[in-house]
Amino acid sequence: MGANELIDRLRTIVGDGYVITEAAAMEAYSHDETEELSYLPAVVVKPRTAEDISRIMRLCNEHRIPVTPRGAGTGLSGGALPQLGGVLISTERMNSILQIDERNGQVITEPGVITEVLQDSVKERGLFYPPDPASKGSCFIGGNISENSGGPKAVKYGVVKDYVLNLEVVLPTGEIIWTGANVLKNATGYNLTQLVVGSEGTLGIVTKIVLRLIPLPRYDLLMLVPFRSLEKAGEAVAAIFRAGFTPSALELVEVDALRITAEFMNSGIVIPADVEAHLLIEVDGNDQQTLMNDMEAIAALLEDYESGADILFADDATQKAELWKLRRRVNEAVVRSGYTIEEDTVVPRAELPALIRGVKMLGKEYGFHAVCYGHAGDGNLHIRIKKEGSVNSQEDPEMVKGIRALFQLVHGLGGTISGEHGIGLVQKGYLDIVFSDLQLDLMRGIKKVFDPNGILNMGKIFDSNN
Ligand code: LAC
Ligand code: ZN
Repeated sequence: MGANELIDRLRTIVGDGYVITEAAAMEAYSHDETEELSYLPAVVVKPRTAEDISRIMRLCNEHRIPVTPRGAGTGLSGGALPQLGGVLISTERMNSILQIDERNGQVITEPGVITEVLQDSVKERGLFYPPDPASKGSCFIGGNISENSGGPKAVKYGVVKDYVLNLEVVLPTGEIIWTGANVLKNATGYNLTQLVVGSEGTLGIVTKIVLRLIPLPRYDLLMLVPFRSLEKAGEAVAAIFRAGFTPSALELVEVDALRITAEFMNSGIVIPADVEAHLLIEVDGNDQQTLMNDMEAIAALLEDYESGADILFADDATQKAELWKLRRRVNEAVVRSGYTIEEDTVVPRAELPALIRGVKMLGKEYGFHAVCYGHAGDGNLHIRIKKEGSVNSQEDPEMVKGIRALFQLVHGLGGTISGEHGIGLVQKGYLDIVFSDLQLDLMRGIKKVFDPNGILNMGKIFDSNN
């Protein structure tokens, strides 16, 4: 089928106004937040319903046309990039929250709803959907499902997979299925729901999502604690849990990253001298006095790890929002200052100091500069890398060697190569570090069952010729 016929058929399915073919208008769909990568699709299409997507998939499946699904394009592993050209399906028009079921504590939503909009809508009913990626103000819930996203609250409340009960999915062949049931327990057959969660848009396109909700905690407290040593800050993380506390956020930000972000945001925050890192610690619950006691006890125990005296307690909602804004914009700020390459390492929590030490050593060996930040309570360290002359991780053989050494270190510490950003395009070359051929063949076999003709988001997780 020629390009013109394809475009005509797509127009018939979704309407003329929802098919884009001009390069200038497609530019916004050619990149996500991954490095400096950019690929134009042949056409962008904006369906409204699962039935629209079903018809698009049948057409593309019949003619073996590559399809790339896309949410808001905030991904960090290239999952939404149309590197094979073809049809890019944007879910931006599928943006309705269909039902908030207060009786059962569930919400049914379309995939193109912004995560924070969903959170705010259920909050009005006293309900809580915790997963809160840094990009929650712009990312789509559908993308969060595809990447099994996390965020700061994961340390207490878990990640996206812990909230997904049931999904409506359009398969690459065009059929529409539900993966499970709207229930809290389900031991009925293979867990197709959880297979689709985190599958990076390679098994199907999610068109409806059923999430469980929990009661909204009434209070939270937040403090920013400076440390003289980055490694000591890493050591303190496991100690907080060993002492019996479960913070609702336990984030680490290396001082270079905080400085860059504070400057980028024109923040008036005072960063004490001789500080290498900060921990941002939040506790939440329904009893304010308990939270105060917990915060004081945590602050006291951190003194054993060379925490500085200049702890910043956020006194009110404005200060809390300010601190969270600083934390959430670290990624954007450090990218702008040249740290274009990012790794999403995760290790068992107590191995964090060893990982931090290793990153710095590898930086010296391979000639890159790294800043670390992220969800320390989960052992999930985002490592942002800057190297003179390289903006993408694959273009410099020394960089590839350095990243491989980093991932080998992570694997050796009992960790893995992505905690919440996925494999996508940029990490697939390193999967052999954590999986054997046998494990990878099982995954490829699953892909083949869902997508026999290899049309949906090919080249993500695995190379497209496999
Ligand atoms: C963060 C994103 C990059 O934690 O995951 O800031
Ligand atoms: Zn993160």
